[in-house]
Amino acid sequence: MEDTQLTSTQPLKHSQTLVFAVNGERVELTSVDPSTTLLQFLRSHTRFKSVKLGCGEGGCGACNVLLSKFDTKLKQLEDYTVSSCLTLLCSINGCSITTTEGLGNIKDGFHSIHQRFAGFHASQCGFCTPGMCVSLFSALVNSEKTCRPEPAFGSSKLTASEAEKSISGNLCRCTGYRPIADVCKSFAADVDMEDLGLNSFWKKDAKLNKLPLYDSKQITTYPEFLKKESKSTAVLNYQDKTWYSPVSVEELGSLLESISAENGMTVKLVAGNTGTGYYQETEYYNKYIDLRCIPELSEIKKAGSRIEIGATVSISKLIFALKEHTKDDPTKEDDVVLKKIASHLEKIASESIRNVASVGGNLVMAQRKNFPSDIATVLLAVNSRVTILTGVKKETLTLEEFLEKPALDSRNVLLSVFIPCLRPTKNGYSKNVKSKLLFETYRASPRPLGNALAYLNAAFSAEVCNVNDGVVINRIQLAFGSFGVKHAIRASTVEKYLVGKKLSVDLISEAVKLIRVAISPENGTSDPAYRSSLAASFLFDFLMPIVDPEISSRLTIDDCERTTLLSPAKQVIESSHEHYPVGEPVIKSGATIQASGEAVFVDDIPSPLNCLHGAFIYSTKPLARVKSIKLKSEKDVNAVVTFQDIPKGGANIGAINHFGTDPLFSNELTQCAGQRIAFAVAETQKNADMAAGTATVDYDIEDLEPPILTVEQAVEKSSFFEVPLVLTPSQVGDFSKGMAESDYQIHSAEIKLPSQYYFYMESQTALAVPDEDNCMVVYSSSQVPELVQRVISRCLNIPEHNVRVITRRVGGGFGGKGSKAMPVAAACALAAYKLRRPVRTYVNRKTDMILAGGRHPMKINYTIGFKSNGKITALHLDVLINAGMSPDVSPVIPWKLVGSLKKYNFGALSFDIKVCKTNHSSKSAMRAPGEVQGSYIAEAVIEHVATHLSLDVGLVREMNFHSYDSLKLYYGNSAGDPLEYTLPTIWDKLMKSSNFDSRVEMVNKFNKNNIWRKKGISRVPILQNVSLRPTPGRVSILQDGSVVVEVGGIELGQGLWTKVKQMTAYCLSAVKCDGTHGLLEKVRVIQADALSMVQGGLTAGSTTSEASCEAIRLCCNVLVERLVSLKEKVKEQMGSVSWELLIMQANMKSVNLSASSYFVPEFTSRSYINYGAAVSEVEVNLLTGETKMLQTDIIYDCGQSLNPAVDLGQVEGAFVQGIGFFMLEEYLTNSDGLVVADSTWTYKIPTIDTIPKQLNVHILNSGHHKDRVLSSKASGEPPLLLAASVHCATRAAIKEARNQLDSWKGLNGSDTFFELDVPATMPVVKTLCGLDNVEVYLQSLFMSRS
Ligand SMILES: Cc1cc2nc3c(=O)[nH]c(=O)nc-3n(C[C@H](O)[C@H](O)[C@H](O)COP(=O)(O)OP(=O)(O)OC[C@H]3O[C@@H](n4cnc5c(N)ncnc54)[C@H](O)[C@@H]3O)c2cc1C
Ligand code: FES
Ligand code: FES
Repeated sequence: MEDTQLTSTQPLKHSQTLVFAVNGERVELTSVDPSTTLLQFLRSHTRFKSVKLGCGEGGCGACNVLLSKFDTKLKQLEDYTVSSCLTLLCSINGCSITTTEGLGNIKDGFHSIHQRFAGFHASQCGFCTPGMCVSLFSALVNSEKTCRPEPAFGSSKLTASEAEKSISGNLCRCTGYRPIADVCKSFAADVDMEDLGLNSFWKKDAKLNKLPLYDSKQITTYPEFLKKESKSTAVLNYQDKTWYSPVSVEELGSLLESISAENGMTVKLVAGNTGTGYYQETEYYNKYIDLRCIPELSEIKKAGSRIEIGATVSISKLIFALKEHTKDDPTKEDDVVLKKIASHLEKIASESIRNVASVGGNLVMAQRKNFPSDIATVLLAVNSRVTILTGVKKETLTLEEFLEKPALDSRNVLLSVFIPCLRPTKNGYSKNVKSKLLFETYRASPRPLGNALAYLNAAFSAEVCNVNDGVVINRIQLAFGSFGVKHAIRASTVEKYLVGKKLSVDLISEAVKLIRVAISPENGTSDPAYRSSLAASFLFDFLMPIVDPEISSRLTIDDCERTTLLSPAKQVIESSHEHYPVGEPVIKSGATIQASGEAVFVDDIPSPLNCLHGAFIYSTKPLARVKSIKLKSEKDVNAVVTFQDIPKGGANIGAINHFGTDPLFSNELTQCAGQRIAFAVAETQKNADMAAGTATVDYDIEDLEPPILTVEQAVEKSSFFEVPLVLTPSQVGDFSKGMAESDYQIHSAEIKLPSQYYFYMESQTALAVPDEDNCMVVYSSSQVPELVQRVISRCLNIPEHNVRVITRRVGGGFGGKGSKAMPVAAACALAAYKLRRPVRTYVNRKTDMILAGGRHPMKINYTIGFKSNGKITALHLDVLINAGMSPDVSPVIPWKLVGSLKKYNFGALSFDIKVCKTNHSSKSAMRAPGEVQGSYIAEAVIEHVATHLSLDVGLVREMNFHSYDSLKLYYGNSAGDPLEYTLPTIWDKLMKSSNFDSRVEMVNKFNKNNIWRKKGISRVPILQNVSLRPTPGRVSILQDGSVVVEVGGIELGQGLWTKVKQMTAYCLSAVKCDGTHGLLEKVRVIQADALSMVQGGLTAGSTTSEASCEAIRLCCNVLVERLVSLKEKVKEQMGSVSWELLIMQANMKSVNLSASSYFVPEFTSRSYINYGAAVSEVEVNLLTGETKMLQTDIIYDCGQSLNPAVDLGQVEGAFVQGIGFFMLEEYLTNSDGLVVADSTWTYKIPTIDTIPKQLNVHILNSGHHKDRVLSSKASGEPPLLLAASVHCATRAAIKEARNQLDSWKGLNGSDTFFELDVPATMPVVKTLCGLDNVEVYLQSLFMSRS
């Protein structure tokens, strides 16, 4: 991480000091660059590196810290989380910051939060864990302040629901959240301990006293000394920048006037500064004015139901105030509106954002920059007014006038917002009351609990009254926003149409037609038809219950009221004690230091003296000549490194693998949008990012061929990568014969599968340090240090032994830290070589997303022949894989795709798979590469056949299951023995354990009884072939008996070190002396070092853990052999021998206590098949297209798991990553192929509110597998394929919706096949359910009533 510009000496004229505390330690600064964030300060100026940079946008929670503030007037302490990546350092004067290190650490003892994260197996790569710990801690601290009853000793006042929601704004890409939720709930007062998941604290008796003790008094969040410090910092200067904190509106007015008199001064008004999460800053300002020290701006004044909200009031404070207002009598009619507003605001962003994000900042962003605000929409529906200050003049406007004004400039200040008196109202309509005010708010977004902007938000308020034979609307306000317009608007044409009319189905029908015209997104908005259809849905949902109070259509707004997000889930593991401690659910190695933030990732390594920082400049054109690169300012940049800086004899190589190379930088001609063209190097990461982000590249495309941007164009131009013969999958049987045997045929059906981004929480990073004699030491977050070393050696033209590549841990890889980590390290090394200074980079999220490439998109065309009973006799596939500009690992994708496609016996199977070379960024392996697509294609084929024949899809699946013979025919040796084919057993077992049959019945019943919600359930099998690769290992026993282990494999969070430790302890215990039982504690696996452990290979493909274990077993066998005879001798002499004594003796006898190995798997047994199955049940909302995942049950065969806790984590994590692929994640590009889904705003990975409410996993111990490492099987990738079950269940629910739609249209449920896109996002689902389903329903109702 960078050095920011700070100094604690040389105070400048007029400056005052900034005083705060970090983990109880006092910090005083006299001169601070006002643009410095708290995260930058903590990471580069303190030893507290736990605050991680996951996004820099407020979208991930990795940087969360607890901020504590003492209100001297009220003598009250406020504690809340903030995103340190958005918090400006100057704004924390007088505050105390607590990071996860402040809760506990290795020296002072860990906090129970840390211990429970470890013990519940809730930390894998560990990059998200510190932020998670802080979020939970904040919830605990705040629960203590409530007046709830005193909890049991060791528990807290937190409720389970609050505990879970505390991490709803935190992303984790590894665990799948279930274990994290269990940690949170373990602190809750209302949790039943029995409901908590697998942990290391108990096997049977689940009791609070078995958990590490929670003591609410243990941590002081606000040190006493701060209370005595002065809180006001009027002015802070830094070079040409100044930070002001005026304390009155008058002072602010005159400050603004004086600044406007100064020429060319740029001014920024600061409230919470969270706006920079959306509008990333590309320039520095001269003047920063903090609005939050002005008391009038931070007050909420209430008079009856009128409320005046100061502009700097945070969203959290407003929610609290609105709830407080309604607390005395929550049923009081006039409070319902406020309660509903509060409930809507709770869905904005995440808690750490809401805690500082101000109402005024939000409205100003909406006014000035067209931000898709929720607050503007909601306040518009209640006739709010605002007061603004221009110079010293105050002006009051309606919110509508304010929004429509020309954009405010930085000298206009929003002072307050006023919600006028609201008429008494009640939720719903009762015919007993004459006149009523109805109020409702709506929001459809990819995640229900926020941290996702809405596709459309709305707030409606109406005054209605009873007339003799119905209900008349006296007044109505319909506000809509966030749908691709400049700002929230009132649908006044519809309002006018409705006022004075009697409500009827016909009237609603007309209003819905009008609303579609009124809510029309501007050109360029994504999913415009979907957004308009949402408007129709919302209006229908609001008005229909008035016409027909019985109707159960109120659907869209109840989510946050749910008690807990996740229900208790079952984890069944079948430990095997045969190879103790192998097979035990041992806690992941390093989990506690990951939680306490002490685990060191590459970017946590302190910068060496003189270290520089780099940032990539990339092409935005697919095929173009680069004429020049211009920087906005050369001032803060040390160098711009390009291919021309590659030393003589060196090659322009950024990545290497079996199939070729990828250039480090484009030469004169770029090959894709998102190709690296240069590396801007500066003194700080911020300057480097700023320089790269604002650089302009001049292109020339004259006389160039048009780029190849689609696979069809690649076919036209025969632009393919060659697939080596050995990797060409073999066809099965005779396709023509199979077709001839069929009763039915489907020809040329098409599927398109998209890409997916890795979204490792730690983005790409490296540090290169020049060493003596032309050597380079490179710290790289890499899955393959060996190849990083080779790339750098060839790029710099130095021998490989000059390049030491070190990798300790990787903050999530998923394939993305394979090829794609190499150029990052190479660019640092090249810059370090050129400038003779250390160079590091931490690639920002946007650049990472643009450069990453990700999963292979593909287009599939299939032809099937099948019998009337559903038995498939022939399948042919034409597959076009978009590999991008360079081969990377793409030639292996056909092999992998076919490998998992063959899970069914398709009779004759033929295919033509082309790996297309296009002008897109090069695609690489992502968890289950090719396999997830192959497995999905197989399901799509089965579903298509079942629909065609109107057969139950489950029966068609079973009809096409392999017999052992056909499995052998399809897979050869990988099939293993007949007993190893466990899929049929798993399939039946799952049927029973998930109560499949009775749930199918319940789903059918539900679908009959519900109009606007439909459920679907699906059971899907998977089969994935994996292969072991040669892997090295070394075990050395030190003099004190401790053991150090090196392996080729890298710890990515998948628990490799833990399994290796277990294997070492097990194997060395074969010496059979006293004390070997505790050997596990004596083993340490150390970081990978490409010079120490050569031929380390690639950590990928799910098998590195077992291969590393086998390599270690070979080493241990050698050591045991060397030690056993000595032990016998010593035993004879001394009676008994302890491990320590034996090792001491061995040293004295000069026994070689280090052994190395290189495990090379047998050719005939290196590949094997993994099996599993999942049942998923979902519920689709037909008004919004939202899919709720209700329950998933998984059985996965791990053989004799090496560590069932680790494997369980892999299964759950992979499954949830698969949900991302199938349901949520859209890795979109523009027409040039440049990634445009390049942030947490636009790319949505699953969060705790978008995963199955209940996820039950059974890790099956399928017994002895003679050719496997201690009978174990892989778990890293195959479970990802199981997420197709969610997609299939969604398809089933949509099918119901479509049949219903047909029946409304007077058609028979036609049951025609439809393709459900991947990912099945809300717009996709709603489109299939009928964008006009509300209109069709109303029409059918009208017809039936008339
Ligand atoms: C991850 C994330 C998710 C979000 N999701 C949502 C969402 O779903 N819905 C939603 O509505 N919002 C959402 N937001 C936006 C959030 O509500 C706004 O960022 C926030 O309200 C802005 O407040 P602030 O105090 O941080 O403003 P700042 O960032 O301090 O200021 C924003 C802008 O307004 C100016 N400004 C601030 N206060 C004033 C004032 N009183 N007078 C004049 N100018 C002023 C500043 O100069 C700046 O230009 C999200 C934000 C983040 C980071
Ligand atoms: S890094 Fe701050 S929220 Fe992601
Ligand atoms: S453990 Fe959560 S991101 Fe890796």
